Amino acid sequence: MLYRGLQQAGAAFQAGERLGSVLLEVVKSVVSATVALEYVELVDPTTLMPLEKVEEEGMLGVAARVGSTRLIDNIILRNCQPIVAIDGPAGAGKSTVARQVAAILGLVYLDTGAMYRALTWLVLHLEVALEDQCAIAEIASNCQIELAPSDNLEPVRVWINDQEGTQDIRSQNVTSNVSAIAAQPAVRKALVQQQQRWGKKGGLVAEGRDIGTHVFPNADLKIFLTASVHERARRRQQDFQDQGQANVSLEQLEQEISERDWKDSSRDVAPLQKAADAIEIQTDGLTIAQVVAEIINCYHERLSKQ
Ligand code: DC
Repeated sequence: MLYRGLQQAGAAFQAGERLGSVLLEVVKSVVSATVALEYVELVDPTTLMPLEKVEEEGMLGVAARVGSTRLIDNIILRNCQPIVAIDGPAGAGKSTVARQVAAILGLVYLDTGAMYRALTWLVLHLEVALEDQCAIAEIASNCQIELAPSDNLEPVRVWINDQEGTQDIRSQNVTSNVSAIAAQPAVRKALVQQQQRWGKKGGLVAEGRDIGTHVFPNADLKIFLTASVHERARRRQQDFQDQGQANVSLEQLEQEISERDWKDSSRDVAPLQKAADAIEIQTDGLTIAQVVAEIINCYHERLSKQ
């Protein structure tokens, strides 16, 4: 009965009702006199402070007694579009997969790695030492990074302080220095704030290392995409060949990927980690289309339960 009451209030919310007083009445109207309601409340899901109406997010909580048994339940009411978080190590195929998932679901693709790359490109361009955390913090909080959809091989188009860096941010020089920049606390603070601002209204497929654990811990669906080091090196080698770049050996790529895994997973701030509630997809032997289809399935299953 409590569950049904909350579900009906959820349906009223979906139909546009935002007032707490009305939503609480919906729950109460379903609960019969055989159940002694202790409370039904609308609160902020993070602070648990009472809310009069739902602006972006609310939690309807209910507690009741049936005989000597105390029952509790709640439902989250969210006034924004869903967020899908896709995390995983370098070369697991996140960009390609996230871009396709976003296109299918009609959501915006957010490549957070491109932001760390853009900042790294700027630091290298300004010839600031990687150890100069104060100077880099200043650059991180003052620079303008813009992302836009790309219609070619690159995951996204990127501008740093109005200068296009779409290709430059993928250079070997940026790739080998980005982990050192991404590990700096002030850098993460500035870029995560920007990502969270973009995510305020939802409607994103965000890809990175700390999305499900740190940037959007309340994401509607969390995926952890991974593959063996050998498989990821093989894919990178194929990418290089497709782009007509010099033949890089598999051993060298395996070593670089292992090093980047280690740096991204062992840093102090927001290390690469699988969120406890993330679904892990091991992609060795799967095609891109199969991985995308699996995520879309998970999405529909997860959202139909909300
Ligand atoms: O996904 P990518 O290779 O473009 O990411 C570049 C680097 O940025 C990667 O080495 C780790 C870092 N990164 C991060 O620390 N946090 C994110 N959310 C995304 C990327």
